Amino acid sequence: MTVRPPERIERDGVVLRRPRQEDTEAIGAAVAASLEHLRPWMAWADDGATSPARRREHQERCDSSWDKGSDFAYLAVDPGDGRVVGAAGLHRRIGPRAVEIGYWVHVDHTGRGIATRVAAALTEAAVALPDVDRVEIHCDQANVRSAAVPRRLGYRLDRIEDDDVTAPAETGRSMVWVHP
Ligand SMILES: CC(C)(COP(=O)(O)OP(=O)(O)OC[C@H]1O[C@@H](n2cnc3c(N)ncnc32)[C@H](O)[C@@H]1OP(=O)(O)O)[C@@H](O)C(=O)NCCC(=O)NCCS
Repeated sequence: MTVRPPERIERDGVVLRRPRQEDTEAIGAAVAASLEHLRPWMAWADDGATSPARRREHQERCDSSWDKGSDFAYLAVDPGDGRVVGAAGLHRRIGPRAVEIGYWVHVDHTGRGIATRVAAALTEAAVALPDVDRVEIHCDQANVRSAAVPRRLGYRLDRIEDDDVTAPAETGRSMVWVHP
C-alpha cells in the first residue's frame, strides 16, 4: 500500500497544500521575485526556472511523484489571501523508511519564521507516516540560514558529508540533520 501525507496541512498561520497545474503562474511569479535569493542554493533556480513550460513540466513531475508516493511537494500559502509564501516537500530519496524535508521561502516573506513553521509541520506529517522511522534535513554547510531551521526544531547534526556541488554557493559539504 502506498502511504501518503495529507494534501492540506494548516499550522501556526501557514497553510501547506498540494499544488495543482492552476497554481503554476503564481509559483512562477514567486520564483521570479525570489530568483536571486534562491539561485545560490537551489540547483533548479536558473534563468529558465520561471518559464511557463518549465513550471508546467515541474508540476507534472510533482503530480506523478505524489501519485507514485515518492515525493510530496507542497506550496506554503498565506491563510488569509492565499499568496504563495514558499514551497516545501517530503522526499523519499534517502533510503528505506526515511524522508528528507526540503524548503524555500519567497524573498519577501523571509525572517518571519515561515521555514521553521513549514518544516515543523512537515516533520509532524513525516513522523505520522507509518512506514517512516527517520526524518532528515540536508543543507550545505555554508547555508547557515537553512541550518538554523533544523537546529531550531531540535534536530541533531548527525554528520557532514561530501556532496555534489549543484548550486553556486555550495561548498560540496552537506550537513545531515536528523529528527529528533
Ligand atoms: C533558508 C530559508 C528557507 C529560511 O527561511 P525563513 O522563513 O527566513 O527562515 P525561518 O523560518 O527560520 O525564519 C527565521 C527568522 O524568523 C524569525 N522569526 C520570527 N517569527 C518566528 C517564529 N514564529 N518562529 C521562528 N522564527 C521566527 C527568527 O527570529 C529568525 O530571524 P533571524 O533570521 O533574524 O534570526 C530562506 O532563507 C530561503 O528560502 N533560502 C533560499 C533557499 C534555501 O536555501 N533553501 C534551503 C536549502 S537546504
